Amino acid sequence: MLLAEGGDRTWEATRPGPAEGPSAAAFWDRMMLTAPARRAPSPRAAPAGLGPALRLLEAAWHGGRAGMPAAPSAGALHPYECLVVTGTGTGAAVFAADPVRRTCALLTEGPETGRALDESGLAVPEGGALLLVVARPWLSIRKYGDRGYLYTQLDAAHFAVHLLGLAADADERAALRTRLDTGPLAALLGLDRHCRFIHSVLTVGAGRGGRGPDAGHGTGTGPDTGRDGWSQTRGGAAFAPVSWLEQACWGLIGPFRERGRPADSEVVPEPLVSRASELLGGRPFASGESRTGLAARRRSAKTFTKGAVSRHDLGVVLSAMRAELRTDLPGGDPVRATLVARDVTGLGVGSIGLTGAGAGTGTGAAGPGLAPTAVTDEELVEICMGQDHLRHAAGFVLLHARRQELLRDGPSGIDRVLFRAGALGHLLYLGAAEAELSITAIGGFDSARWRAVADLAADEEVLYVLVIGTSAPDSDVSGVPGVSGAMKLDRLHVAYAQNER
Ligand SMILES: Cc1cc2nc3c(=O)[nH]c(=O)nc-3n(C[C@H](O)[C@H](O)[C@H](O)COP(=O)(O)O)c2cc1C
Repeated sequence: MLLAEGGDRTWEATRPGPAEGPSAAAFWDRMMLTAPARRAPSPRAAPAGLGPALRLLEAAWHGGRAGMPAAPSAGALHPYECLVVTGTGTGAAVFAADPVRRTCALLTEGPETGRALDESGLAVPEGGALLLVVARPWLSIRKYGDRGYLYTQLDAAHFAVHLLGLAADADERAALRTRLDTGPLAALLGLDRHCRFIHSVLTVGAGRGGRGPDAGHGTGTGPDTGRDGWSQTRGGAAFAPVSWLEQACWGLIGPFRERGRPADSEVVPEPLVSRASELLGGRPFASGESRTGLAARRRSAKTFTKGAVSRHDLGVVLSAMRAELRTDLPGGDPVRATLVARDVTGLGVGSIGLTGAGAGTGTGAAGPGLAPTAVTDEELVEICMGQDHLRHAAGFVLLHARRQELLRDGPSGIDRVLFRAGALGHLLYLGAAEAELSITAIGGFDSARWRAVADLAADEEVLYVLVIGTSAPDSDVSGVPGVSGAMKLDRLHVAYAQNER
């Protein structure tokens, strides 16, 4: 395999300056494109560890819509990308990997890179690699405004847990870290200048053959251009040039992005929530289907049809939240889950705490352990920001945290709480695939109104909502009255899920 030598590191933000004045020439010239200088890559052998990492990335796209990874993302914008770190004789090397174009470009290598990794607390496993999920918030913020940052965190968490699930199917030592201070490596790569940050780091071992259907991504051989179709990048920038719009957006986020996060990054395999309700009594993923297989089948529902879900099937979905994840998140339950049941056989209509101490405070009047909730279909659509396609959903899982806990550790604490919410959301998606129920995450909702509907304490912030129910086949529904054919309204150019019309 050939790899590109260095990326084009030039970076330019073509912000219109006052000196330009309102001349036609300045106006026209701003609309012109300049092709970056192309540097021919020099042939080189691929280091060990790169092949398994690239194949894992390819597997992560399997089952997704064309050109997208098989993880959900608000508006299908996927505001993240991947870097691969491998060990070399002289230290370490970092590559930008693009699984859509199937290209790979060397960004940096050598002793300096090795030092930056050491200072970031990162160690490349023997014969393996590190896969870095790098967030690019602009991709979401340009559509969703400030809320796009929240979606960036949730989306990246979905993707990172998706990768972890796939990696773990092949190698049970795979681990995901979110608490490292990766500042030194980010500085070496100039990520701040490129309006990006390292979200999480997945350790991919050399693999041992694996158990899942796609376990071949862990076999440890280098990529082979002929067989795998990956190739070197022919010139061009490793990171796309940053526009003045993106830079302005980053300028608003930057002050909230702290450097030097805590480095106590011990990996402990444990569930992210404790069980407080019998509804989570089942063994997670009891069918035995691999997470790779479930991820390839999961989809976001385009609309919901009237119809109850059974308590058993709902239990299969909810129990997925108890799956063990090998992460460095500390114990405790800062994110809790509450179910708002509307049409579940064997369960009344009402809300029930599912996880964490003090959950399940229902009075019993509405069903076993359920607190009565009164929400009409109309109100439901309203508090989901006018998303009419959710009207007939059978149940809503609210992921929430106490405001005090959410804000306690500053902005990076918010990131970590959102990571848990996104990770739990992802497990629910896999649980729904296993139970063959329809599910969609929603980011478009009114947090305070949901808090009232679910009878949560006054200081609870609803972070994320997962909607569960039944759907007609895609070909029969559009989500828009009078329009046939499947359409996911969240993918429209306007921020439909935020009431933008
Ligand atoms: C953080 C997040 C927020 C989302 N918000 C909504 C929403 O408000 N309404 C909706 O219908 N779908 C929502 N979705 C689902 C996306 O539209 C869906 O993931 C995307 O269109 C890709 O489709 P797929 O999940 O079937 O691959 C959300 C997904 C995520 C991860």
